[in-house]
Amino acid sequence: MSLFDAAAAARRNAYAPYSGFQVGAALRTGSGRVFSGCNVENVAYPEGTCAEAGAIAAMALAGEREIAEIWVIADSDLPVSPCGGCRQKLAEFSSPGTIIVMAGLEGEKARTTMAELLPGSFSTDHMTRATPGGGV
Ligand code: THU
Repeated sequence: MSLFDAAAAARRNAYAPYSGFQVGAALRTGSGRVFSGCNVENVAYPEGTCAEAGAIAAMALAGEREIAEIWVIADSDLPVSPCGGCRQKLAEFSSPGTIIVMAGLEGEKARTTMAELLPGSFSTDHMTRATPGGGV
């Protein structure tokens, strides 16, 4: 199954009664496995989760740790760009060249890379002087 088809199938199960905006995501890992997710909203609005977060959780549960490519699909004229929080979540399991594709219901609308999506991202490189047990 293509990542477009997997993301579209995931989107059909999105739970979005508050925004009315259904989103699906599907990613392929470095080893070639595919995992998908949908947005799951909540009456306590900030508790809702994005489609990308669902796909990442499914990937981690399967023991996979490396995203090679991810597709995000929604019914929108503009390509739906992963939110700031999702960019950081994606960066955790991506390399600079990880491909992010934004799709509408008819297919691809735009594509970019992790490096372009979240330049200057916070990483363990910034924590070389961290002191475990410190900061109490
Ligand atoms: N949403 C996602 O699932 N992924 C994105 O990349 C953008 C936004 C969801 C969150 C919320 O359920 C709805 O879209 C409207 O913001």
